Amino acid sequence: MKSKRNLFLALVLAIPFVIIFFSQCLTSAKPDPRGEIFAGSATCVKCHKDVYDNYIHTAHFTSTRPADENTMYGDFHTSSNTFYFKGSKVVMEKRNGDLYQVSYKNGKEVEAQKFDITFGNTKAESYLYWKGDGLFQLPMSYFKKFHSWTNSPGFDTTHANFNRGIGRRCFECHASYIKPLPAATASLDQPVLFDKSSLIMGIDCERCHGPAADHVNFHTIYPEVKEAKYIKTYASLTRSQKMDMCATCHSGNAGHMLKSIFTFKPSDRLSDFKEITFTHQVIDSAKMDVHGNQAQLLSSSKCFIYSKMDCATCHNVHKSEKQLNLAIYSQKCISCHNTTTHNECKLTPQIGGMIKNNCVDCHMPARSSHVISVQTSGGGNAVPYLVRTHHIAIYKDAAQEVKNDLKKYNLQ
Ligand code: HEC
Ligand code: HEC
Ligand code: HEC
Ligand code: HEC
Ligand code: HEC
Ligand code: HEC
Ligand code: HEC
Repeated sequence: MKSKRNLFLALVLAIPFVIIFFSQCLTSAKPDPRGEIFAGSATCVKCHKDVYDNYIHTAHFTSTRPADENTMYGDFHTSSNTFYFKGSKVVMEKRNGDLYQVSYKNGKEVEAQKFDITFGNTKAESYLYWKGDGLFQLPMSYFKKFHSWTNSPGFDTTHANFNRGIGRRCFECHASYIKPLPAATASLDQPVLFDKSSLIMGIDCERCHGPAADHVNFHTIYPEVKEAKYIKTYASLTRSQKMDMCATCHSGNAGHMLKSIFTFKPSDRLSDFKEITFTHQVIDSAKMDVHGNQAQLLSSSKCFIYSKMDCATCHNVHKSEKQLNLAIYSQKCISCHNTTTHNECKLTPQIGGMIKNNCVDCHMPARSSHVISVQTSGGGNAVPYLVRTHHIAIYKDAAQEVKNDLKKYNLQ
């Protein structure tokens, strides 16, 4: 009798564990490699379907992805799949359904490595391959503007180099997580080894919004609560906290890292993660590279200093902005610069109606990055990597070019 009662008691006591066990099986097949405080983007779709469905098509979410033919811009047709160095070449080849970069010298194959991970989207792609648990950058990148393969930025210009080991840093800005293995397992050839199964490609929701498992659990149990719990709302952040949320990745790669930005969450201070000269006020915008330094460049603009703007004033990061034209951005400018506010463009009388379509080419011109330039096939010149400056200001040269174009097409 007694043993039956004990069995019954044991079964009753086990119920909560059984429920937890099964609910975990249902919610996620595999626990989040970042730990149980993270829920993973896939869980957000249940309650934020609109945001999720749009977000997965953005440059952020696809910034790193498995390299395959369907998601790659790079061209494998025989007419355009070869990059020539002096005396050697690299050919992009399909072998047994996989994609490879193969280097040849004097017609003989020297090295072949597989495309495993693609980085980048709008302008260029660069690729990594796995060798054991180490990651290396492939020698060839793809530059969309020229529809051509280029030597990867910063690589030796005389021959194909397959030996550039990649650490965690690229992933901190282009992915959601990767975990290095203990340093003891590394060697001189492969200074950083990774736990392959920990890699979460793409920039997911929790990179910006912070760990959200508590938020998900709470709202799953209390569907009637309509006010956000256990998550920082954007509106509750100070402006500098809002800026830091983007500056984690949009303030460049200079400056010593104090701890990994994988653990950054909204309301944290970026200066606790990296040494950053980021006063939001005085910087030398002429010396600041356009690549990646949007936060500092914007902060040094009069628009920023004399208004309350932040990155979200002009960007909706939940939607792909690839299709946006400059006229739509110009509407944002005009919302602050118009006749009622008495700070419209001085050139308005000269340019007339056309002005409203393009504030951007004159006041945020695309400038060449000093840190990135790529070399084209056959010893071609280094081609510039153009990025829009976020130091909004008066650029006489850019303005003249736009005016010339307007004249040329009789638009003025
Ligand atoms: C079970 C439902 C549920 C799930 C799952 C869920 N949320 Fe929410 N979330 C809510 C509710 C309810 C609100 C409050 C109403 C609103 O803003 O939509 C909210 C609001 C938010 C807000 C808005 C805060 C603001 O600025 O107003 C963010 C950010 C957010 N959720 C992020 C996430 C992320 C990231 C995930 C996935 C990891 C997620 N949510 C999953 C229910 C959910
Ligand atoms: C985890 C790092 C990270 C964070 C945080 C981040 N970004 Fe980005 N962002 C990137 C990377 C990397 C790219 C380049 C993506 C690509 O083309 O592969 C990018 C691209 C962009 C682009 C260009 C998109 C396009 O379609 O070409 C905009 C605009 C942008 N980010 C704005 C923001 C804003 C605004 C915030 C803050 C709300 C933010 N980002 C937060 C890493 C980040
Ligand atoms: C690059 C950074 C970034 C990423 C990634 C991101 N968000 Fe947001 N999210 C923001 C910002 C910035 C705001 C505030 C926008 C505003 O108020 O102007 C916001 C607002 C929200 C809100 C409240 C307002 C709204 O639009 O409903 C929800 C809910 C939300 N995000 C959910 C998500 C979910 C779910 C994902 C992933 C599918 C995600 N976010 C990915 C930056 C991001
Ligand atoms: C501090 C953050 C950061 C780090 C670290 C970083 N990137 Fe980026 N990367 C960005 C941002 C932001 C952009 C897009 C905007 C820009 O150029 O300013 C970008 C752009 C790119 C692009 C072109 C994307 C496009 O627009 O098509 C590629 C390719 C790329 N990065 C690869 C890498 C690789 C490979 C590494 C490591 C060697 C790396 N990045 C390290 C932030 C970073
Ligand atoms: C949130 C409001 C706001 C938005 C949006 C905004 N600005 Fe401004 N801008 C200002 C303020 C305030 C000033 C400083 C006072 C002034 O000149 O009226 C300013 C100054 C300027 C200046 C003078 C810069 C200098 O160095 O003398 C230019 C040019 C300018 N803005 C262009 C633009 C363009 C182009 C856009 C869109 C890409 C834009 N602004 C978006 C508020 C804004
Ligand atoms: C006053 C409006 C405005 C604000 C504020 C603003 N941006 Fe932009 N941003 C633009 C415009 C306009 C473009 C160019 C879009 C295009 O060429 O299609 C752009 C482009 C970008 C790009 C792509 C650059 C390139 O050339 O590849 C990134 C990345 C970016 N913004 C990030 C940010 C970040 C991060 C912040 C906050 C620090 C920010 N932006 C604030 C107007 C703005
Ligand atoms: C053809 C290039 C061009 C276009 C297009 C253009 N601007 Fe300008 N803008 C200039 C130049 C050049 C100046 C400086 C004029 C001067 O000081 O005489 C200027 C001056 C300004 C100023 C400073 C005014 C002041 O009081 O000092 C603002 C603000 C401004 N522009 C905003 C805008 C906005 C907003 C748009 C889009 C609606 C725009 N601009 C379109 C070239 C342009």
